[in-house]
Amino acid sequence: MNIPREFIDLLLNKVDLVDLINTHIPLRKKSGNNYFARCPFHQEKSASFSVSQAKQFFYCFGCGAHGNAIDFLMQYDHLNFPEAIESLARQAGMEMPRTNDYSPKQENLSDLYELMTKTANYYYEQMRQSERAIQYLKHRAISGHIAQQFQIGYAPPGWHHLIDLAKNDLDKKKYLEAGLIIEKENNNYYDRFRDRIMFPIHDYRGRIIGFGGRILDQGEPKYLNSPETPLFQKGRELYGLYHILKAKRHIERILIVEGYMDVIALFQHDITYAVATLGTATTPPHLQRLLRYTNDIIFCFDGDQAGKTAAWRAVEVIFPLMQDQLQIRFLFLPDGEDPDSLIHKEGKALFEKRFSSAVSLSIFFFQQMSLSCDMNTMEGRSRFASLSLNHIKQLPPGIFHDMMLDDLSKRTRIDVNALKRQLPQSQMTQQQSEAPAEVKLVTPMRLLITLLLQHPELATHLTEPLPASHLPGFAFLLELLEVIRERPHITTGALREHWRGQKEEAFIAKLAGAKHLVPEAGLHNEFKGVIRQLHALAMDEEINRLMTKAGQIGLSEAEKVELSRWIAKKKTIL
Ligand code: UTP
Ligand code: MN
Repeated sequence: MNIPREFIDLLLNKVDLVDLINTHIPLRKKSGNNYFARCPFHQEKSASFSVSQAKQFFYCFGCGAHGNAIDFLMQYDHLNFPEAIESLARQAGMEMPRTNDYSPKQENLSDLYELMTKTANYYYEQMRQSERAIQYLKHRAISGHIAQQFQIGYAPPGWHHLIDLAKNDLDKKKYLEAGLIIEKENNNYYDRFRDRIMFPIHDYRGRIIGFGGRILDQGEPKYLNSPETPLFQKGRELYGLYHILKAKRHIERILIVEGYMDVIALFQHDITYAVATLGTATTPPHLQRLLRYTNDIIFCFDGDQAGKTAAWRAVEVIFPLMQDQLQIRFLFLPDGEDPDSLIHKEGKALFEKRFSSAVSLSIFFFQQMSLSCDMNTMEGRSRFASLSLNHIKQLPPGIFHDMMLDDLSKRTRIDVNALKRQLPQSQMTQQQSEAPAEVKLVTPMRLLITLLLQHPELATHLTEPLPASHLPGFAFLLELLEVIRERPHITTGALREHWRGQKEEAFIAKLAGAKHLVPEAGLHNEFKGVIRQLHALAMDEEINRLMTKAGQIGLSEAEKVELSRWIAKKKTIL
């Protein structure tokens, strides 16, 4: 596939690398313009993975992983280059340039977003006109204010409401792609949602990406959800997250519940920090997203066996993503209750009081492990240790990891070092590679290229042409300056893109990620200094050339004048 360079440039311009990476791994702001995290590409204890907003470039000082937004997706999601571009374009709502073969994926997503909003408005309007639907909300004790806040709507009975709103065949295709209508046979469609209370599902930015529709009486299925569409992937989205983000700047904790109605009822009772997974178990993308906003997560489950099973599944998802500062708890509710029913009965204060009796991750983990082991026998304890280690080894190295081992050692009366020996080698030895990789910046050429790659805007301070030089890297320097001249606001990440697949790639990566140790305020001076050095070096070249010639065959009068001019000039520059 041939993707136009201009499109890739536009795409990189539109996407923010920090946002992108943040949806996959939680970043913490540490210094200046840089964000840090534990590197997703190697096992490590401290955060050596840095992401620069200004540079639109990531670099791991531990393992050397590096690149721009495209590189991140390629490495993180194991995509090839066109796939990464496509994924990025989709996230940015940009239309991939059309190739000859039509694919619906290339449809402009903004059309679909617009259609979803329009449809939500339609359902909302229908709600106001349906006495039956209004009565249902009243019966569920949903206030008008909350119904409005969550844009709860109603899909009237009948098979053709949305179809009739579609103006032409192209429109119908869009409704189809948005999952709002269903194709019976060729060009014969019917509405997916009929006679249901409609809950619009927003992404974290507030765009409507899907719907959940509840039946008003008895019937199957109780909830009908949008199918997977280009906008909607169930395993990534959380109902209510947008509303939390809108309600709060600082999110102390997040409660994960099961249902739409739970989120809404809790919200109505001023518990404005609940989200629901959409009829699926919690997935890693769910959790990674939530960790962007909070370090305190409470899972809410039924108290029955199904609830315990669901909680265990959550444990398995959490372990590889666990962080030392993270608090995870499981709240098991009384039989037959859900947050919706409880909050109406007991109100906010009593409900929140339940959190103090929630079970912590470690306690729940060991409880579950011991279910199948007789801790009074040696065999049982050995089995317990072995089962537990199988999970503990999923934990990233860190304090929590060590404490789990200590706890396991106490419970099994096995020496902690013996337990550690059972772990994979990589977890026993601390990573030695975590000290920042400071690339040696010995030559001025290297420093100059580094400065330009990392701060392309410096090129605007270049007032006179660079002296011709035979120094290694000079040809690259000229090319680099040319690219920056064409696009003065280019970022490191976009510069990197320019040399993808070429021999300079590795060199660029090394310098783009290098610590040049020049403080922000001194950049301009450093740059001027290194340009001066470059001029001096070029003069040295000339002087050396002439001196050598003088020693071998002698110089003409003109050459002698030239030599003394160089020597004089060099004195002025240093
Ligand atoms: P529940 O069956 O526990 O329903 O499903 P609920 O949330 O208590 O709903 P109400 O109170 O009866 O209205 C929990 C969640 O599982 C998903 C929905 O997201 C629902 O909110 N679900 C449930 C479906 O997707 N489809 C179904 O048929 C049922
Ligand atoms: Mn319920």
